[in-house]
Amino acid sequence: MDESTSPTTPAASSLPAWPPVAVPGQDPALGASAAEDDEPGQAGEGAQLLDELREAIARYVVLPSSAALTAVTLWVAATHIQPALQHAPRLAVVGPAKRCGKSRLLDVITETVREPLITVNTSPAVVFRAIGDDPPTLLVDEADTIFGSIKAAEKNEELRGLLNAGHQRNRPALRISGPEHKPQAFPTFAMAALAGIGDLPDTVMDRAVVVRMQRRKPGERVEQFRSRRDIPALHALRDRLTAWLRPLMDTAADLVPPMPVQDRAADTWEPLVVVAELAGSA
Ligand SMILES: Nc1ncnc2c1ncn2[C@@H]1O[C@H](COP(=O)(O)OP(=O)(O)OP(=O)(O)O)[C@@H](O)[C@H]1O
Ligand SMILES: [Mg+2]
Repeated sequence: MDESTSPTTPAASSLPAWPPVAVPGQDPALGASAAEDDEPGQAGEGAQLLDELREAIARYVVLPSSAALTAVTLWVAATHIQPALQHAPRLAVVGPAKRCGKSRLLDVITETVREPLITVNTSPAVVFRAIGDDPPTLLVDEADTIFGSIKAAEKNEELRGLLNAGHQRNRPALRISGPEHKPQAFPTFAMAALAGIGDLPDTVMDRAVVVRMQRRKPGERVEQFRSRRDIPALHALRDRLTAWLRPLMDTAADLVPPMPVQDRAADTWEPLVVVAELAGSA
């Protein structure tokens, strides 16, 4: 298994070929020969788009492996079909030290996911109200400062609760609200990417596709990320993802891909496999 992704969650196919059934943990050699069999120019619109997204991410960030890059690409695409998903996988971008591209990856993700909502400078009340039937994508950088100490965890208890509950459907948070102070249920279901130094709490890691970042080596080159210059192209990709995936929402909701893993690992990885299937059949 690839060490750069979670030990509890298998690596998604390490191939950028978006096979019709992308089985996590499948023998990469099998997938490679299937990909080679493809006629050039056969790739559908979705597969082409995922390839472009994958290249765009790799332009700015050195991911620890090809499998990790594929997983991040599929995760980003899955944010665009959240209403069709049964679970909202977390993306845990963790690294052992400073300066290994965690924030950089979050920057690129922010510009390509469905409705990014940066939670750290946003009050939990606003975050609660922003999550509806068509959820935004929650983004938490420096998550170690939220979870790192008991004091910090206490201060951010509401956000922490939301991040834990929101992996599963039908886990609303009850809050007193309105002039009559009546309890009101707020949905919590939303995909979330969290970046931080060191492992995040077990409960988050267990619900996450985990990417273990490493500082780039001297020979590994990345382009600087310049907002003014680079965001328009990323937004163009984001808008194409929306245009491709939103009409496929019902198809996505009906897909039950075979998963070689079970339980929570299957729940967490299923949305990524669904996107790969959509690309493979487009
Ligand atoms: N694997 C990598 N991918 C992309 N950039 C990297 C990588 N390793 C090091 N860098 C370089 O590190 C610099 C800082 O990156 P970034 O701010 O994303 O780090 P970080 O992991 O968020 O660090 P911190 O924990 O201090 O917040 C960038 O200039 C980038 O070029
Ligand atoms: Mg950072």
